Amino acid sequence: MGGKKMDAKKGLLIALDGGEGSGKSTLLKMVKDFYGDEIVISREPGGSPYAEEIRNLILNSPNAEQADALTMFALFWAARADHLKNTIIPALNIGKIVVSDRFDSSTYAYQIEAQGARDLESFFWKMRDRYLRKYKPDIYIYLDVKPEVGLARKNMQQDEKKNHFDKRKLDFHYRLREGFKEFFAQKNHGIKSVIIDAEKSKEEVFEDFKKIISSLK
Ligand code: TMP
Repeated sequence: MGGKKMDAKKGLLIALDGGEGSGKSTLLKMVKDFYGDEIVISREPGGSPYAEEIRNLILNSPNAEQADALTMFALFWAARADHLKNTIIPALNIGKIVVSDRFDSSTYAYQIEAQGARDLESFFWKMRDRYLRKYKPDIYIYLDVKPEVGLARKNMQQDEKKNHFDKRKLDFHYRLREGFKEFFAQKNHGIKSVIIDAEKSKEEVFEDFKKIISSLK
């Protein structure tokens, strides 16, 4: 009898990612207003009480800037494990659509590519299988903007607090974009992705997002 079926994941997991200033927060506000409780919006690093504590350590500790990719890689995976266990899986089990603001695509782009830990790549895919198991995102949505455009947007938003990743030089942000593109091209790891041109208006980006959700339901 259908042991596998009973074990099947009911909801949908969507990872939303993008470089700095790609408009993720703006899009997520529109998603919240439009979809209400139908979509659970969460974020990484964070998304569960313990993972939020790890977020604070990663982003706000005065010592974070000295931490290298190896340290960060482990912290992001630790936070993700808790986020998955305590927020994402319970929501998927009751049939929710979960949108995570950043996910493992960010670990690939930020730590492996932009922070330069290329030697962690094969380890990354093993971690991914062990940590995410059957809870790999059904789809990744990437908001693509040229780094200059994204960083200029960030600079305009006075209320946006810049973290130590935002403050890095332009070449870091170029490597980041390459890293995302490389991750989304990994068809042999079963990655399904849609890239949205996020230099379009926020309304157009939201229309694209809605079409993706409808195609998945
Ligand atoms: P944000 O939520 O304001 O985008 O801040 C999260 C920061 O953490 C952002 O600069 C991207 C970075 N990050 C990584 O470096 N690796 C990761 O795995 C994740 C999830 C985020």
